[in-house]
Amino acid sequence: IRYTEAHRPQFHFSPPDHWMNDPNGMVYHEGEYHLFYQHYPDSTVWGPMHWGHAVSEDLVHWENLPIALYPDSLGYIFSGSAVVDHNNSSGLGEDGQPPLVAIFTYHDPVGESAGREDYQSQAIAYSNDRGRTWTKYAGNPVIPNEQPIRDFRDPKVLWDTEREQWLMALAAQDRIMFWRSDNLIDWAFLSDFGQQVGGHGGVWECPDLFPLPVRGSGETKWVLLVSINPGGPNGGSATQYFVGDFDGTTFTMDPTFSPDVQNGEGVWIDYGRDNYAGVTFANIPDADGRRIFIGWMSNWLYGQEVPTTEWRSAMTLPRTLELHRLTPGYRVFSTPVRELDALRDATTPIQSGTTALPATAEGTYEVDVRFLTTEASTEPFGIELENGLGETYRVGYDPAAGQFFSDRQDSGDTGFSEAFADRITQAPRLATSDTVRLHAFFDVASAELFADGGATVITDIFFPSEPFRRVRLFYGDGTEVLGGETYALEGIWP
Ligand code: FRU
Repeated sequence: IRYTEAHRPQFHFSPPDHWMNDPNGMVYHEGEYHLFYQHYPDSTVWGPMHWGHAVSEDLVHWENLPIALYPDSLGYIFSGSAVVDHNNSSGLGEDGQPPLVAIFTYHDPVGESAGREDYQSQAIAYSNDRGRTWTKYAGNPVIPNEQPIRDFRDPKVLWDTEREQWLMALAAQDRIMFWRSDNLIDWAFLSDFGQQVGGHGGVWECPDLFPLPVRGSGETKWVLLVSINPGGPNGGSATQYFVGDFDGTTFTMDPTFSPDVQNGEGVWIDYGRDNYAGVTFANIPDADGRRIFIGWMSNWLYGQEVPTTEWRSAMTLPRTLELHRLTPGYRVFSTPVRELDALRDATTPIQSGTTALPATAEGTYEVDVRFLTTEASTEPFGIELENGLGETYRVGYDPAAGQFFSDRQDSGDTGFSEAFADRITQAPRLATSDTVRLHAFFDVASAELFADGGATVITDIFFPSEPFRRVRLFYGDGTEVLGGETYALEGIWP
């Protein structure tokens, strides 16, 4: 399929048709990256959840596969993860080959309407044919909801190499629970984290716990991602994180990180309004060593109302997460995966004094530009997209405010939801250098800014009435363009 509908992303994953939300079950196995996703195949709004499925050999070009998991008598198939059970600890493998095991939440709509509290539980399914067909485990659920807890979901499983155990991070309303297992079937509760810290403007969902080396040191810390809805820094859904240590049982925040997440404050993986429920791939080979993240490029505030017809929503670009130790403490940086370089078509250097950048017919660009600021830099600067109707989108930095921003208020169709363009997205700057680097990817309906080498990230979607076929740099007195490159980007769909 070559997607031609208005607003259809050209280099992002979007479902062939109908509704999509969270990425699920992301795992690398036998040369393929698997992307499953929350999917309702009968409508362009949320409904009884299935796991849709696609695979990629390069994280960039995707092949759509049939639906992997259908709802059944135990409920809808909510978010979760997948692992390769290398030692066949589950006994679900065949012919000496390790099975793929998916760990997901059953959401029982009947129990929910009956007013029960235990309508979410954790279950598994397995595949012995590279994820092409799946069998649900006969003894499901593997974690019934005994307490019960109303929001009890989104299991993310990791092999803890140090303790040689399976670890699960599980969202439980206002905290994250950790569970352990030897075989992915029998699970024991370990501890919980988070009731007193971080953003609590909404329910906690879609956790992910993993170790991450600290760049430029021999140290490794553990990162815990937690999505919350609502309560994001710019309204609605967003993903915060915590940095600390995990001793096999308990997650403890690093003392240098803890002050930043007191009194309802959060530190966010992305300050934009359209990166939610993101988690990382399991089983990336050691020789690669990356921690690769994908999020749902939308927001529960308006995700079901965006003006698309055949399908709804897309995923963010895949990003590499890295941990840096800065003056304020540990921070997770996100950068687009290097495989995306393959999409670069015509390359144009950006020189000092440049304003107009070359356009493309489809409105798909990568711009990587460095600005030099001085004490005289008071006006906002950045990148502007425009179409023939005078609709515009701007992303950049405001030196007076010390904030990056993304402004979609005049970007076209904004009227489908009052919440969509009620503000300009803002994001704090962490870097202190005079040079501000804006590295941005613009697809037909989205912008992703990786500022200062990924220290601050903004992802925002938009719906211009016709493609943005003009790109220019804007800046005021005291600010100069140092240089950079701009690329026309190819689409990923054949
Ligand atoms: C997050 C979420 C998850 C849940 C899924 C249902 O967006 O609410 O917590 O498992 O979506 O589709």
